[in-house]
Amino acid sequence: MEQLNGHLEALEAEAAAAIGAATSASDLEDLRVGLLGKKGKLSAVLGAMGRLPGAERPLVGQRANVLKEQLQGLLAQRLGAVKAAAMAERIARESLDVTAPCSYVPPGHRHPLISTIEEIVDVFSGLGYRVSEGPEIESDYYNFTALNIPEHHPARDMQDTFYLQDGRLLRTHTSPVQIRHLETNPPPVRVIAPGRVYRRDAVDATHSPVFHQVEVLAIDEGLDFSHLRGTVTAFLQRFFGDLPVRFRASYFPFTEPSAEVDVQWRGRWLEVMGCGMVDPAVLTGMGLDPERWSGFAAGLGVERFCMVRHGIDDIRRLYTSDLRFLEQF
Ligand code: DAH
Repeated sequence: MEQLNGHLEALEAEAAAAIGAATSASDLEDLRVGLLGKKGKLSAVLGAMGRLPGAERPLVGQRANVLKEQLQGLLAQRLGAVKAAAMAERIARESLDVTAPCSYVPPGHRHPLISTIEEIVDVFSGLGYRVSEGPEIESDYYNFTALNIPEHHPARDMQDTFYLQDGRLLRTHTSPVQIRHLETNPPPVRVIAPGRVYRRDAVDATHSPVFHQVEVLAIDEGLDFSHLRGTVTAFLQRFFGDLPVRFRASYFPFTEPSAEVDVQWRGRWLEVMGCGMVDPAVLTGMGLDPERWSGFAAGLGVERFCMVRHGIDDIRRLYTSDLRFLEQF
């Protein structure tokens, strides 16, 4: 018995030292297993208890239980200390300097041209129109011929453009989308086509070689000029407010009759779009019988709408990406 008690004492001293020296949770777990586990040192001592006389066993057992609880206490205590030290170390290492200058990325927002297009699309969506799109690099056929503008026709001069080596061109208007849409969609159709267009124009306050248009096309049975007038007027009054709108006779090769539309804005008449009844020659070219189908088309310049609405005096402001300007919208 003396010998076993001696073992227990030695174990206590050894364990206390080892626990005190442990610096991590995993070290402590290893110690716990080595001391108190099934094959641990305490079990080894207790195993030897079987050789003691019966009367002495409870005494040694009691002593062993006290030691076990003691070691458990030491382990838990040390674990708390180790964790606290790790946390303190981490806090010290990760300290934040809340006064350091930061990199601030301000949130962006829509460009006024894009929001103008979205507004126009919104109004026409409300009237039952869908959006259709076409390519910016076009063939002569879609940009001109199919729109009743044959080669050598003087109307081509109105829209001088940029040509590619292979004879294709940068579209001068969104009207070719009318043709492309009709090629794959039998009437009735109601579509608008927003997009970028190009003209060989010198830059000034009202001209840019790249600008945006929205095309409108409706084909159905029984459509006449009153539908065109009603639709265009409804759209303009929704966009600009309840302003007077007037239609002036005009000419476009792909519509007959054709009109230009003005709105009275701040006391003067402003021309805002072109429109007309789709020319029977265009319908026939698309394989549609003009006795059965009729329709109207319209085209507008987005920059113009945007500038009028926001009182912008120079088209170049829309392209120079000056944040002092853009942040006002
Ligand atoms: N494409 C014409 C232009 O760019 C605008 C236009 C006029 C479109 C009348 C139309 C229309 O659809 O009916 O000058």
